[in-house]
Amino acid sequence: MKRSSSIISVLLFAVISTVNSCPPSDRAALLAFKAALHEPYLGIFESWTGTDCCHNWYGVSCDTESKRVAEINLRGESKDLFERAGRYGFMTGYISSEICKLTRLSSITVSDWEGISGEIPKCIASLPFLSILDLNGNKITGEIPADIGKLQRLTVLNVADNQISGSIPASLTNLSDLMHLDLRNNKISGPIPITFGRLRMLSRALLSGNSITGPIPASVCLIYRLADLDLSLNQITGEIPSCLGKMAVLATLNLDCNKITGGLPSTLLNSAVGNLNLSRNALQGKIPDDFGPRSYFTVLDLSHNFLKGPIPKSLSSASYIGHLDVSFNHLCGRIPAGAPFDHLEASSFMYNDCLCGKPLRAC
Ligand SMILES: *[C@@H]1O[C@H](CO)[C@@H](O)[C@H](O)[C@H]1NC(C)=O
Ligand SMILES: *[C@@H]1O[C@H](CO)[C@@H](O)[C@H](O)[C@H]1NC(C)=O
Repeated sequence: MKRSSSIISVLLFAVISTVNSCPPSDRAALLAFKAALHEPYLGIFESWTGTDCCHNWYGVSCDTESKRVAEINLRGESKDLFERAGRYGFMTGYISSEICKLTRLSSITVSDWEGISGEIPKCIASLPFLSILDLNGNKITGEIPADIGKLQRLTVLNVADNQISGSIPASLTNLSDLMHLDLRNNKISGPIPITFGRLRMLSRALLSGNSITGPIPASVCLIYRLADLDLSLNQITGEIPSCLGKMAVLATLNLDCNKITGGLPSTLLNSAVGNLNLSRNALQGKIPDDFGPRSYFTVLDLSHNFLKGPIPKSLSSASYIGHLDVSFNHLCGRIPAGAPFDHLEASSFMYNDCLCGKPLRAC
């Protein structure tokens, strides 16, 4: 009698502890994920012991109802780690495809470890609940999985500062919930998909520092919420679509260091854009005389192009010009006077054909 009751209590205990802890299959997948990584300084994986991976495993969180692993959040530059260890982390190894067995994952952040290499497991594209994928700041190679577009709940895709190659997959523009796309500083080549404008929820598109070729698709202007478009330091050709200047909330437009030709669209000078860098392209023609009270620029950098003609008089009617750079063009004529110019230095205007007047020599 006594014996059987103790067996029952043991069984009961086993049942209760399985109910409260993560499923053994999730635990096994986490341990296999960990086995492919090596983190020598902080010892974050030392906390990955015991049966309940939902409890006190550093960076692991579970869904409160299903008890399935919902988040992996490991940041090499996390403040919390820094406070504990007094240094930022470093990790080598690769992201094991075992991670794809965690089919309830909604968020994967394995960022700023500098040393993680290998490829993004292709199976990541079949995690049905994935909303955040942040692998920023590692040494990841290979391509963005071709069927990334299957991640219908993805809102954040950040693989910046890695060594990712290949082109932007056509399926990416199927990510109808995507809000934040950061592919900066990789080795991505090929064009921006012509259907880019299908990313209707996108607010930040950061593609700077790659080898992207081809034109800026005009469909970008359909992205009503786009606030920040950074295509700088690529090999982009063609003209600047003038519809960019008609976008409701586009505030930052960085197209510097590309091979963009054609004229400077007048729409851009009197738009929501307040941070405009078009430096180091092959823009031709005159600066349109279309500044006005809506022109409010913290940065307006048109340097290193082939612009000619005068600096338009309407620039005096701009509400604000914080930093202006028109150096290294073929501009000529009197620099207009007015409040927006009072603080500007000669370097803003140097290396043109024949500009004159304050702050350069008198005309
Ligand atoms: C985008 O999604 C649609 C509908 O799910 C699918 O038919 C199409 O093949 C997808 N496009 C790409 C390029 O994956
Ligand atoms: C504009 O882009 C150029 C080239 O990338 C860069 O050197 C410059 O600092 C940028 N201008 C501003 C004001 O940030």
